[in-house]
Amino acid sequence: MRTTTARAYPNIALIKYWGKRDESRILPAAGSLSMTLDAFETTTTVVPNPDGDADSLELDGQPADEEQTRRIAAFLDHVRALAGSEQPVIVRSRNSVPTGAGLASSASGFAALATAAASAFELDLDARALSRLARLGSGSACRSVVPGVAVWHAGDDETSCAEPVDAPDMRMVVVTVDRSRKPVSSRAAMRLTAATSPFYEAWVSSTEESLAAMIDACEEGDFTRIGEITESHALRMHALIQSTTPPIRFLRPQSVAIFDAVEKLRENGLEAYSTADAGPNVVVLVRPENAEAVAEALDGLGEIRIVGPGPGAQLLPEGSEVPAAEEGLS
Ligand code: DP6
Repeated sequence: MRTTTARAYPNIALIKYWGKRDESRILPAAGSLSMTLDAFETTTTVVPNPDGDADSLELDGQPADEEQTRRIAAFLDHVRALAGSEQPVIVRSRNSVPTGAGLASSASGFAALATAAASAFELDLDARALSRLARLGSGSACRSVVPGVAVWHAGDDETSCAEPVDAPDMRMVVVTVDRSRKPVSSRAAMRLTAATSPFYEAWVSSTEESLAAMIDACEEGDFTRIGEITESHALRMHALIQSTTPPIRFLRPQSVAIFDAVEKLRENGLEAYSTADAGPNVVVLVRPENAEAVAEALDGLGEIRIVGPGPGAQLLPEGSEVPAAEEGLS
């Protein structure tokens, strides 16, 4: 074994993953498509710990809480099973995004951890195998292994992984309205949706149709069509989530105000389309040449950041380790 460090970026889905067919293998009910970003990265170091009796985890300089520890240790068990090892490790991870606020930090987190851990345990995985491994940590993480626009095929345990899709160059204007941790996790909300929404089956079948249309639009380089499908699909997901018992609403009044402002921009000839994950922050899809103008127009509605397509998960050279909390303080 060796000490390794990897970096991965979050992704924002244009066709959303919302619902599992298999909870333990994290197989999605339908395929999805996203863009991996060039900002808000997670950097993760995995250190062999031959003297430890359990994994030890430090997230953003703090010991991980019980739930995080359980989830990360369960993921590391998959890596150990592949490697035929029982070695505990120390994981130190740093996010440049607020965790749990709808900016897909579990995607960058598990993509970085999968990449670092696979290398620490000296597994020789190709991009598809690495994407499949990341999926076992968090579904959307399988897309963050891939650079730029990625499709995640629903598939089965062997084939459910992400791969690159040809798409036009695009930007996203991220409008952060709330940095706090969301009240319900995606995982729990997804489970509640499948169990209680009367619209769930229609969501799954219409998502497959939207995905096919989206892949066509990407391959044709049809930005307008990509944008229209993105916004309508996001609104469908939020409508679906609101149809659970008890209902869950992730969008806040400020989020809805941004959707309205974006619609106004379109009426005035500036093409832009909104989407939002399981949280109140809104991400606006734009052509590269319109990014600045849209960012300026939305100024005042939240904290604005323009992002573009980013790299897939990657190993960092030796010497890039995330420092331990006490080293960080010294
Ligand atoms: C709304 O990948 O976080 O961002 O597989 O349970 O870990 P788990 O869920 P997760 O869900 C992401 C949901 C979403 C949509 C998307 O990214 O496609």
